[in-house]
Amino acid sequence: MQRVSPITEMCSISEGARSAGKNIALVPTMGYFHEGHLSLMREGRKRGDVLVVSLFVNPAQFGEDEDYGVYPRDFSRDKGMAEGIGVDILFAPTVEEMYPTGYQTFVAVEKVTKAMEGQFRPTHFRGVTTVVAKLFNIVKPHIAIFGEKDYQQLVVIRRMVEDLNLGVEIIGMPIVREEDGLAMSSRNTYLGSEQRKAALSLSRSLQKASELFRSGERNCGRIIDTVREVIQREKGIIIEYVEIRDAKTLEEIEFIGAQAVIALAMKVGRVRLIDNLVLREK
Ligand code: PAJ
Repeated sequence: MQRVSPITEMCSISEGARSAGKNIALVPTMGYFHEGHLSLMREGRKRGDVLVVSLFVNPAQFGEDEDYGVYPRDFSRDKGMAEGIGVDILFAPTVEEMYPTGYQTFVAVEKVTKAMEGQFRPTHFRGVTTVVAKLFNIVKPHIAIFGEKDYQQLVVIRRMVEDLNLGVEIIGMPIVREEDGLAMSSRNTYLGSEQRKAALSLSRSLQKASELFRSGERNCGRIIDTVREVIQREKGIIIEYVEIRDAKTLEEIEFIGAQAVIALAMKVGRVRLIDNLVLREK
């Protein structure tokens, strides 16, 4: 595996690969890898001749009072894990090179970024779409792989790619969970043992939603009420939102048709967690 930091070096590797007719797959990450990240890399390994994983903790997507400064980082562990999957290039640019003095250009997807995460993290998606657009320009991938764990992010990126004719195929991969149901996240490392137990109510509440859906319930309000009840039984959890929306467009719906997504965000102490489940007819 080659570790690349300078942007110009990454660009010339990509140009070389493209002109040799190679298919480039990109997995963008902020590091501190877990099985969720690795599942995306394995998919990338299958689909691409050249597999690039980017590792960049992107300051532009953190709010002022968020965890940029303390976001978990462990480069040598990440490097070993990426090597184990057979990643070809680990692209880890510096903040100074990605956002040099005088930087002032941002990519913003306007509508689908407003609700859900956008309501609580108003500048978040603008940072995500900007860095992903930059990574696409630098790495020039044919395909890029993202997790459904960040469901809204996936929808926002698909929108950006279509709207800006970026010509990158976007692949979404299912959420990888711990054995007890907790969705894997680099931020789980912030949880104390009591908080971690309380956090299980997220996946438990989504299971409950799935059961209701399977038994024929299609009324969003009723499913949301039940999910909230399950979570609120735990002390120390503050719900930010529980929403059911159209799975493709994230438009609001009252009744579930062919497929919908139930997405939620909460705070367990100071730790912010998100989870979701797609509800679709079998
Ligand atoms: P990060 O949180 O590091 O996640 C990198 C990718 O891994 C994302 O596509 C995310 O959805 C996916 N992922 C995280 N946890 C997962 C899980 N439990 N199961 C499956 N996939 C999972 O998301 C970001 O970084 C950043 O916003 C980024 C896209 C890199 C832009 O900076």
